[in-house]
Amino acid sequence: MADMYSEKVMDHFMNPRNVGEIKDASGVGEKGNPTCGDIMKMYIKVGKKNGKEIIEDIKFQTFGCGAAVATSSMITEMVKGKTLKEAEKISNAQVAEALGGLPPIKMHCSNLAANALQDAIENYRSKISNA
Ligand code: FES
Repeated sequence: MADMYSEKVMDHFMNPRNVGEIKDASGVGEKGNPTCGDIMKMYIKVGKKNGKEIIEDIKFQTFGCGAAVATSSMITEMVKGKTLKEAEKISNAQVAEALGGLPPIKMHCSNLAANALQDAIENYRSKISNA
């Protein structure tokens, strides 16, 4: 049923991966959801592999609903070890798909995760270009 949460969503909601804060983060992103007022914070630690910048570690904190928790948890698993270029291309729809779909009314919640990640990557880039 399309208005129910998939098992994967429930799993990531009940046992979210990579929750918390990275104290010495390379970049921090924050996004609010205008629809509901919820907030998401994303921390990334950037490292180098074969001369490319990759996401070595990622954590999130949210005052969001279950769908926001599940999509953030999922996106952190999807991008760990990926290059920044690959990570910033991941769309909300891809995250929702990896979770086996989200009820349509909850699709806006998935925006928080991808947008906060993009914000963290931008924050990292602005820091290194000002260094
Ligand atoms: Fe606010 Fe889902 S209702 S993020």
